[in-house]
Order: sequence, then structure tokens, then C-alpha cells
Amino acid sequence: MDFKTVHIAFTLNGQPRALDIPGAASALQVIRDVIGLTGTKEGCGIGECGACTIEVDGKAVNSCLLLGAQLDGAEVLTVEGLAPEGGLHPLQAAFLNRHGVQCGFCTPGLLMSTHALLRENPHPDHGEVSKAIAGNLCRCTGYQQIFASIAEAVGRGGGEGEA
Ligand code: FES
Ligand code: FES
Repeated sequence: MDFKTVHIAFTLNGQPRALDIPGAASALQVIRDVIGLTGTKEGCGIGECGACTIEVDGKAVNSCLLLGAQLDGAEVLTVEGLAPEGGLHPLQAAFLNRHGVQCGFCTPGLLMSTHALLRENPHPDHGEVSKAIAGNLCRCTGYQQIFASIAEAVGRGGGEGEA
């Protein structure tokens, strides 16, 4: 038995996947380097920035802190699985509309953290959004446009004072 390789089978963006991975690989490395889905970003690599956020069984997690082996049997969603091909998820459309994207490095993580929140709470208030994205750092926007984008996506308008 090869202890260095682990076989995992899971669902990724609605598609079944089965593959052999290095046993020490993080979920982030599996998604980006083994599978080649590079929408999920690596910022800090130590659980501080949220750029690597994915959904595992509906919960937002930092994929840099998860072993790839822990994906076995899970339902995994990355930013590539948010929208139908060629379209935009309403959150993505709102981020575009409200200028919630500047360099874009934080955006996939923010989208996934917000998406996971909306699964449980489709109409979060500002405080609930703030708590959900507290682990997602953005160096560009100052967050105002991000809150406005999410507010628009959840039907709170996203105008001044509504973010
Ligand atoms: S890369 Fe995972 S939290 Fe920063
Ligand atoms: S848009 Fe650049 S880090 Fe957020």
C-alpha cells in the first residue's frame, strides 16, 4: 500500500470526481493544481485571508486549511460552479453592477462565503453579512462596494445607507 497517495471520490460543482492525490496535499492544492480549477485563490495559505474559500457540504471553508483527503465523500462547490456556463450568478452580477470587484483576487472567496450564508439565510442584514465575510480580506475596495453588492443581491437595494 502506498501511504503517500490517497484515493478520493467526491462531487465537484455537481460532477462526480474520483482521483488519486498526494496524501499531504491541501484541498486548495487539489482543486487548483491537481484538477486545474484556478478560480479559487491562494493568498496567505494559513487561514487568514479567505481567498481560498470554497463550500464543502454547504459550509464555507478555507481550502488551504483542509486536507484534500477530507474532500472524500463531500459535496464541493467552487466559484466555477456558481453560475451556469456563460451566465452569471445573481451575486456575481451584483458585484459587477456595484463595483464590488477591483483587482478581483478576493472576489471568489467573497462570493463563496456569501453564497454559503445565503443558503441558510436568504435575507441577511448588514451585521449578518459582516459576520459571514469577516474572514475575507480585500485590499482594494474598502468593503463599501462589497456590502453594496451583497445588499443588492439579497434585495436590499445596495444604495447609499442600505449596504
Ligand atoms: S489562502 Fe486560505 S485563508 Fe488565505
Ligand atoms: S478587489 Fe482586490 S483584494 Fe479585493
